[in-house]
Amino acid sequence: MTTIRVVGSPTAIMGEQGASLLECLMRAGYPISTSCGARAACGLCRVTVLRGAELLSPLLPSEINHLGSVAKIVGMRLACQARLIAEGEVEIDVPEVVDVVARKRDKARKQAIARASSPHTRGPSERTATGPQRKSEPGVMPSEQVEWRPRKLSS
Ligand code: FES
Repeated sequence: MTTIRVVGSPTAIMGEQGASLLECLMRAGYPISTSCGARAACGLCRVTVLRGAELLSPLLPSEINHLGSVAKIVGMRLACQARLIAEGEVEIDVPEVVDVVARKRDKARKQAIARASSPHTRGPSERTATGPQRKSEPGVMPSEQVEWRPRKLSS
């Protein structure tokens, strides 16, 4: 059996060899984000291994796809892919559970606001409704500014 300690949690979780960190955490009722059913597809189950990384299965390419190449350096793992392979004590940091639906809704709302406020993404009718945007010279009213037009040269 391997002892899993989670930063900020007073209780230790016991896990048997071959079990993934995600399985151990879920069996113990510890809240952890997941939406793909432990298929290394969502990347939400990421944890940071602070101690005992040698007691876990090696980092998989599927994990590097989600976590980036620095995963090994900073000790990040996908809890669904990291399996206990030896006895001892592992210490992990588990991020707060993310409400995926709320996060996607928030992201869509922010993108809609950014699109609405950007002059580059407005439609042609909106662009002309407010008139051309010009920088006015200091002390000169925009109505006093002379519009530059090319002159025809007389021969
Ligand atoms: S549960 Fe989705 S990547 Fe681990």
